[in-house]
Amino acid sequence: MRTTELTRRSLLISGLVAGVGVLASCRSTAPAPQSSSSVTPRSEPVVPSPSEPADQAARPQGDLYGVGVYNTQEVADELVYIDGNVRPFDGVPKRVLITGSTAGAGQLAAAYLVKRGHTVVAHARDAQRAADVRRDLPRLHEVVIGDLRHLDETRALAQQINALGKFDVIIHNAAEYRISGPEILSANSLSPYLLTALVTPPQQLSYLSSDQHFGGGLKLDEIRSGGGIGYPDSKLHMAMIAMAVARLRPESQANAVNPGWIPTWLAFQDGPYSEDDLRAGYMTQVWLAEGVEPGSDITGEYLFHQGMDTRVSDLVHDEDAQDHLLAAYAEQTGVTLS
Ligand SMILES: NC(=O)c1ccc[n+]([C@@H]2O[C@H](COP(=O)([O-])OP(=O)(O)OC[C@H]3O[C@@H](n4cnc5c(N)ncnc54)[C@H](OP(=O)(O)O)[C@@H]3O)[C@@H](O)[C@H]2O)c1
Repeated sequence: MRTTELTRRSLLISGLVAGVGVLASCRSTAPAPQSSSSVTPRSEPVVPSPSEPADQAARPQGDLYGVGVYNTQEVADELVYIDGNVRPFDGVPKRVLITGSTAGAGQLAAAYLVKRGHTVVAHARDAQRAADVRRDLPRLHEVVIGDLRHLDETRALAQQINALGKFDVIIHNAAEYRISGPEILSANSLSPYLLTALVTPPQQLSYLSSDQHFGGGLKLDEIRSGGGIGYPDSKLHMAMIAMAVARLRPESQANAVNPGWIPTWLAFQDGPYSEDDLRAGYMTQVWLAEGVEPGSDITGEYLFHQGMDTRVSDLVHDEDAQDHLLAAYAEQTGVTLS
């Protein structure tokens, strides 16, 4: 997404579901979209039966891959492509955890890595979304659950992850877009920070950032007060945390990844536009995770489409600024990242 596009695209928010439906009707390779009348709003809770564990009580919503519910037709088409075309990896399989892997780029990376034969653990915000992704990607190893807007759930999520043993790769992909500043702070920034600090360090970490990081600022006072930050701030912070982790943990590989402006549900919140290639938007994460292609051992960089992107805010590589940011995060969460 580009900030300059927001006003024009915001005019189309009200037509989002209908717009996805129109796009969907032009395609033939993926499941039929939901009609807008049958779409279950995400905010509608699914109440688990007291006799069943929460994630077994929920039933998947929508058709396969959730077009019009949580995915765009473009993402569903790509999931169909992956299922039909991706062949097994002939190297040593990796253990990979991807946050926010119930939709969009995270789900695509998970689907690709599953088809390659890696052990993939997905992450869902709640039991409903866990049921959805189990239906969509039945060969997942496990699904961990926690809503990153709530830091108590993030801390519990870290325990769930640690109980599964050490991972080779963790991709901090989850992010929210149109929610309040305090929720953005928790979901997009404090939660990946906490997970980085509390989860047994993997060999490799990737943090999803964005071109919008150019519009972001440090916002140290807002972090300390919990007052809230904007989406661009959160994407700057992700890039800075990635660089700080690469510096603090030289034995690990850590990078920020800009997937480009790709046609996912998050991007379509401003209207059905995007200008970058969806496959290229998740293949950098796959390329890093497998780590066999030339250049995929890169660390401490801001990446775009499997290469280093030098168009990056000066703050991203500024070590003093990174330390100030980490100090504010430590103060707000009570947890120090080392
Ligand atoms: N799409 C773009 O053009 C674009 C551009 C630049 C950067 N990015 C970045 O790319 C990453 C992936 O985004 P996307 O475009 O694939 O978005 P998406 O389709 O909306 O997927 C976001 C994923 O994160 C999960 N998530 C969001 N908030 C969560 C929370 N509070 N707790 C747990 N899970 C949560 C979502 O779960 P639900 O499905 O339950 O909501 C979903 O699985 C994000 O970090 C985003 O900032 C995207």
